[in-house]
Amino acid sequence: MTTLLLNIKELLQTEDAPKMMVSGAEMKKLPTIKNAYLLIEDSEIRDFGSMENLPKINADETIDVSGKIVLPTWVDSHTHIVYAGNREQEFVDRINGLSYEEIANRGGGILNSAKKLQEISEEELFEQSRKRLEEVMALGTGAVEIKSGYGLTLEAELKMLRVIKRLKETYDLPIKATFLGAHAVPANYKENKEGYMNYVIDEMLPKVAEENLAEFVDIFCETGYFSVEDTDRLLEAGKKYGMIPKIHVNQFTAIGGVQSGVKHEALSVDHLEEMREEDIKILKGSKTMPVGLPSCSYFLSIPYTPARKMIDAGLPLALATDYNPGSTPSGNMNFVVATACIKMKMTPEEAINAATINGAYAMGISDTHGSICIGKKANFMITKEIPSYGFIPYSFGSNCIESVFINGKKI
Ligand code: NIG
Ligand code: FE
Repeated sequence: MTTLLLNIKELLQTEDAPKMMVSGAEMKKLPTIKNAYLLIEDSEIRDFGSMENLPKINADETIDVSGKIVLPTWVDSHTHIVYAGNREQEFVDRINGLSYEEIANRGGGILNSAKKLQEISEEELFEQSRKRLEEVMALGTGAVEIKSGYGLTLEAELKMLRVIKRLKETYDLPIKATFLGAHAVPANYKENKEGYMNYVIDEMLPKVAEENLAEFVDIFCETGYFSVEDTDRLLEAGKKYGMIPKIHVNQFTAIGGVQSGVKHEALSVDHLEEMREEDIKILKGSKTMPVGLPSCSYFLSIPYTPARKMIDAGLPLALATDYNPGSTPSGNMNFVVATACIKMKMTPEEAINAATINGAYAMGISDTHGSICIGKKANFMITKEIPSYGFIPYSFGSNCIESVFINGKKI
């Protein structure tokens, strides 16, 4: 089956030689072809180029996309979309003056979600989660990482991870699962964090590995949650099972978690609202992708990841949603890209790079996703008729995406 898109106003993120990511000044460059064609064969990109050089092709299907822009689908490398219920009461509590920390200390926050998750059936959890996944796919997300971490018991963590597995089996987009058992210390271990870490490492981790339920291992390395020592210990243990590290780090305080991530060759370090010079320095030349989550900063009114400082220092940066019931009840990557431009002073080119190829790196899939490149998966989207790609972040809050293709098929 071949599909030919003709008269594309502008085809974005085209690559002749595939690269794994872009960093520093390179992020300002977004390769594009104006007045382009794109040829899809089955699930892959077969050819693309300028309409002037269009070869004679007998495609099974031809689509005229005059006036519309085509770009690779967004890669959302950080989400918690498998969760039970919502937390809008905490949202109201915050409006009325309580802080995220105060709510957590009263048994709200992650522990509130864990209680709901422990009570829900696997079937119902799947149903709630699939709706969110379908919603974000329609908004242009064509690859997604999903974390556990609202279970906090062996049974409930496995329930979450099995739901992620079922989502993988049900949908065509790449999904990567992350084991985040060390997301918060549950109430029954309140005075015994070490006991909970032992439970995560000695009982949860082996079971998760045995059932092959997670590619990545993650921990919330933060004051009041888990220390750098806990992080070192968990990442070390995860690696024995072949799980690649990712960390929630520097969200509220900088305590050395970035250094731990780099030491363990974490694929990404995520949040980074609080960045010290030494954190930027250690990331330079490392294999670890820094990931900013601007919707979280927006929703919690906390600082934004200092993108300008980081990119100007030569670092790469990826952008993701953090879709979760507490700090970011939104999975809209278009909003992430817009907020990165508006609040983090990233250019549209930088933001699009961060949300496609660099997101793909942070998911370990940049050899197959994140750009328009011959042989890569045909995961792309067609915009409505818009004047330029800068219009996508400019018209924040509007949906510019008309249709989304996953593995060459329109969803
Ligand atoms: O990435 N920071 C840690 N975890 C989530 C939020 C958890 C929650 O409030 O439910 C995050 O922001
Ligand atoms: Fe998160």
